[in-house]
Amino acid sequence: MSEDQHQNKQTNIENEDTLTNRQGHPVTNNQDIRTVGNRGPATLENYDFIEKISHFDRERVPERVVHARGAGAHGYFESYGTAGDEPVSKYTRAKVFQEKGKQTPVFIRFSTVVHGTHSPETLRDPRGFAVKFYTEDGNWDLVGNNIKIFFIRDAIKFPDMIHAFKPDPITNIQDSQRFFDFCANSPESFHMVTFIYSPWGIPANYRMMQGSGVNTYKWVNHDGEAVLVKYHWEPKQGIKNLTVKEANDIQSDNFNHATQDLYDAIERGEYPEWELFVQIMSDDEHPELDFDPLDDTKIWPEDQFPWLPVGRLVLNKNPDNYFTEVEQSAFGTGVLVDGLDFSDDKMLQGRTFSYSDTQRYRVGANYLQIPVNAAKKRVATNQEGGSMRYEPERSPKKNPHINYEPSSLGNYKEAEQVGKEHTPKVEGNIVRESIDRNDNTKQAGETFRWFEDWEKDELIANLVGDISECTQEIQDKMIALAEEADDEYGRRLRDGLEEAANMMSDGSSRNPLGNKDAEKAPDKAVG
Ligand code: HEM
Repeated sequence: MSEDQHQNKQTNIENEDTLTNRQGHPVTNNQDIRTVGNRGPATLENYDFIEKISHFDRERVPERVVHARGAGAHGYFESYGTAGDEPVSKYTRAKVFQEKGKQTPVFIRFSTVVHGTHSPETLRDPRGFAVKFYTEDGNWDLVGNNIKIFFIRDAIKFPDMIHAFKPDPITNIQDSQRFFDFCANSPESFHMVTFIYSPWGIPANYRMMQGSGVNTYKWVNHDGEAVLVKYHWEPKQGIKNLTVKEANDIQSDNFNHATQDLYDAIERGEYPEWELFVQIMSDDEHPELDFDPLDDTKIWPEDQFPWLPVGRLVLNKNPDNYFTEVEQSAFGTGVLVDGLDFSDDKMLQGRTFSYSDTQRYRVGANYLQIPVNAAKKRVATNQEGGSMRYEPERSPKKNPHINYEPSSLGNYKEAEQVGKEHTPKVEGNIVRESIDRNDNTKQAGETFRWFEDWEKDELIANLVGDISECTQEIQDKMIALAEEADDEYGRRLRDGLEEAANMMSDGSSRNPLGNKDAEKAPDKAVG
């Protein structure tokens, strides 16, 4: 066969539907491996087969150590240009907020926290609400949850907390005694426990839940002046949470319901929308408050620190591929742009190390080259190499030989500072101490009283169900926290646990009031 004839044969057999391997070779047989005779044995030079199976063997990257199960979508953020009645520039110079009507592309990932990538989406758990803004100044990530507070206020406790919430290292079974053992001995968690054990611990889906930055950040204006800020997302679809019975009914039918709800709504053209609000406080210790503004177990009261609308978010495109966009997406609290800053919130500072650290391990050193993570603007560093580096910096260098700075041979130069730098003064002894104003139960009581009756009933029934399985010491500590929070809360929890103990000693039921039993639990008022 001449060279020409050979070329013709190649173009004849390959068209746009033709399967190829990763080298671009057309695959003519995808059903049979090469063997000696049709009964084998197989031969080792079977390149197509070995390439196919070895890539399959490497399909997974480690799942996220927390928030492993998630769903993602693309969309945009539209700024109002104002924060309430004021121009937003009074508080921040971040470009993403300045101009009314300005749209910035975003990618969002919602998640559950404790269990693995394919765990049910009906579980009682916080929900992650992580937003990546591809701003003209580079990426900004707002990595939040649906609930406005958190279990702990110091980052050093996070690995212990997660170990207690995840399955037992021997049995691989999640155990509520481990959860309450940690919480009873970490009383700062009681406010979050109050939310999580209420219906707010099972949002109906991702579209009908709030989001919150949880930790305290700073906004910095053109003059370098800073204010403390908290972020809140409010769903235009309304808020909906589930009773245990409703959750169980959904789970028996579909354990992917939240992912499916989000995906289907976007495919139907019903684009979910949230409004972004901020709460602002002057940047000081606020001794007049009975909580510390840097304590993430506390809500900033809305009557003192009103919610100021600053923009809206619309999700209007599903990912083209789950793995490349959702699984490999990487969000972090350190990813801020000019005009946004860290506060001294100790959780925020601990988180900021953890995210990019885990992503270098989970996705790889060049995780920021992956399109979903890459800034949608010029990126120009002197970084080199690393596993799976596939492109040089995208912006052409004047002199590509010069991968260092400073240099007079032609290379990138430092940017000019636009606004005045924010340079907070910090003074004090280096210590290992908790913050002073650490009332652990007052706001939990306020939250209990704020719940509607059915939410209180669910909360008590859910707590009784799980705490009744714990040792007496853990039960007593949890009752003491509830009593400290609110008389009715404490009384109903104590009565419920006593009733549960009596019924257990009768042998009538191991867990009479708890929501393990979906038939009884949802409308059961205990006490
Ligand atoms: C994910 C650490 C507290 C929200 C993660 C991941 C780590 C982590 C290691 C996995 C990231 C990845 O593999 O890409 C920590 C530490 C915390 C902390 C050390 C406390 C010191 C919080 C808090 C919130 C939060 C308070 C809520 C505001 C999230 C969310 C994700 C996440 C939403 C999932 C991000 C995604 O969708 O990829 N966290 N976290 N975390 N965390 Fe935290």
